[in-house]
Amino acid sequence: MADPITPVLTKRWLSPKSWTIQSYEALEGYTAVRKALKGTPEQLVQLVKDSGLRGRGGAGFPAGIKWSFMPPNEDKPHYLVINADEGEPGTCKDIPLMMADPHSLIEGCIIASYAMRSHHCFIYVRGEALHCIRRLNAAVREAYDAGYLGIDILKSGFDLDITVHAGAGAYICGEETALLDSLEGRRGQPRLKPPFPAAAGLYAAPTTVNNVETIASAPFIVNGGSDWFRQMGREKSPGPKIYSISGHVEKPGQYECPLGTTLRELLDMAGGMKDGIPLKFWTPGGSSTPMFTAEHLDVPLDFEGAAEAGSMLGTTAVQVFNETVSVPWAVMKWTQFYEHESCGKCTPCREGTYWLAQILERMVDGKGTEEDIDTLLDVCDNILGRSFCALGDGAVSPITSGIKYFRDEFLALCETNKRELVGAEA
Ligand SMILES: Cc1cc2nc3c(=O)[nH]c(=O)nc-3n(C[C@H](O)[C@H](O)[C@H](O)COP(=O)(O)O)c2cc1C
Ligand code: SF4
Repeated sequence: MADPITPVLTKRWLSPKSWTIQSYEALEGYTAVRKALKGTPEQLVQLVKDSGLRGRGGAGFPAGIKWSFMPPNEDKPHYLVINADEGEPGTCKDIPLMMADPHSLIEGCIIASYAMRSHHCFIYVRGEALHCIRRLNAAVREAYDAGYLGIDILKSGFDLDITVHAGAGAYICGEETALLDSLEGRRGQPRLKPPFPAAAGLYAAPTTVNNVETIASAPFIVNGGSDWFRQMGREKSPGPKIYSISGHVEKPGQYECPLGTTLRELLDMAGGMKDGIPLKFWTPGGSSTPMFTAEHLDVPLDFEGAAEAGSMLGTTAVQVFNETVSVPWAVMKWTQFYEHESCGKCTPCREGTYWLAQILERMVDGKGTEEDIDTLLDVCDNILGRSFCALGDGAVSPITSGIKYFRDEFLALCETNKRELVGAEA
């Protein structure tokens, strides 16, 4: 059994100048790609399937299966696109990974591109993360100079180019098909599926979109093997995972743990609740995942555990709130974010998020009524499952879960309004 606290993905992060190719190579860097290029693409796809690696961008789709959807022929160019948009509120794992260890992503890109017969890989990075774009560009240059990118990589006959592309900071451009539109130079809006990207993605050619952490896991799987990878985490959610913990904890940051770690354990690592003020609510994987409360401290945070307890693992962006925070206020803030980021393509989300924000703002302002709670739930019901993409579904999570666990707080706001109205009549 692998030691649960021995870091894998983050093992180089604290080394001096960990982002340089010299540090990377000194710490086993670029050994996996040498191994991978000696095998066939099919063997690599099978290895990743056997490892059980699931996508780290939120939905948890098995990576090896996704890779196997790419056609075996090369009639058209094949593309690998790395989703480095990292827009989900609370998520801060991909940018730290690319800052501290950009070559692990680049090595993963070479391995995954070889497995999918792609000769051009794009890394789509959130535009505001200029520091990260600079670091990635420098690392890509180093990799070209060292012969890990370009023509005939390590004399294997395999060619690969990597292009780092800066997005312009729209949350919807993290949705994989909106990202592809944005990469093609269009306004980022989700595409109708099918066709799925593996059939017609970037420039209508076979494409796979994967998250940064998913691809950065590949070199470790090649070196360690699928059985080693499966020793960490849980049966259906194996492997290590970077949990990003923010909010009212003593030591917020990134904590790498096996999938299935609980909030109780994460809080221990993060030094406990800030100033000892008790926990009130938290998100397991960003604001698009229904919130949990102090009752959920022992829920295993893997794909199945979070779902069985009524939420989702999402991006493992654990946002922790103490007793001083008003739930309706936090829910209003998140809803304002979704209203702002709704791309406007479909009516339930475009109109719904607008009205949800209006109602919540009125309630938080002390001017709500009890009927507003029913209206909120009704609007949510008309968005969930009826929107064009998952942004709409995510937008209702804070509201429905907030009302489920803290209805009294929403009611109390209405009560204040009622008292004021009665007072005004008298
Ligand atoms: C509104 C929205 C935003 C998203 N943002 C991101 C993101 O920033 N990074 C990411 O990897 N996936 C994001 N996703 C999920 C992607 O659509 C896609 O599932 C993911 O990139 C696939 O990679 P994976 O299989 O490696 O997880 C987002 C989805 C939606 C609906
Ligand atoms: S759900 Fe929202 S973000 Fe997604 S397509 Fe519809 S309007 Fe755009």
